[in-house]
Amino acid sequence: MATKEALKIHEVVKYPDPVLARPGVPVTVFDAALKTLVAEMFESMYVAQGIGLAAPQISLSQRLTVIDVSFKKNPKDRLVLINPEIVETRGKQVEEEGCLSLPDIREKVQRAAWVKVKAQNERGEWFEVEGEELLARALLHEIDHLNGVLFIDRISRLKRELVLRKIRKMQKNGEW
Ligand code: NI
Repeated sequence: MATKEALKIHEVVKYPDPVLARPGVPVTVFDAALKTLVAEMFESMYVAQGIGLAAPQISLSQRLTVIDVSFKKNPKDRLVLINPEIVETRGKQVEEEGCLSLPDIREKVQRAAWVKVKAQNERGEWFEVEGEELLARALLHEIDHLNGVLFIDRISRLKRELVLRKIRKMQKNGEW
C-alpha cells in the first residue's frame, strides 16, 4: 500500500487576479489526479476558513468547485461539483456574502432562494443537488466563480465603487 502523502494546501488568490475573471474550462479527465485535487481543495478551503472554494481561486481555470456549508460538522454537506449547471431557480433572498478571494469584504447580495444544480462527481457521473438558503447561495456563488463572476459584480455600481476604494486603500497599506 502506498504511503499516504500530505495533501498540498493551495494558496487562494485574491481579487483582482485575472484568473478570477476568466471562465473555467470543462473538466474532461476523471482520474486519480482529479480525486487528489478535490481532496486538496477541501483541505485548502478548511485552512482558509471557507465554506466554498472554486478551482479558479487556486489559479486553475477549470469548472470544479467544492462546498461544505456545515464546515466539517456534517459529512453529508461535503459537495464536489464538476462542470455544474443551474437547472432551475426559485424565489429570492438577500443576505450578506463574503468570498475567500475578497477577504474582509461583505455585502448584501440578491440570489435565488432555491436552486437545483446538476453536476458530475469525481467519477464523471451526473447527479442533481437542490439547495435553499445558505446552500443555494453557496451553489450560485461558486458556479459564478466558474464563469469568472465575483459577488461584487452583483452589487450596485455605487457599492462596488466603495468596495474597490476600500481594496485600493488596503493594497496601499500592504494589507491586501
Ligand atoms: Ni468566492
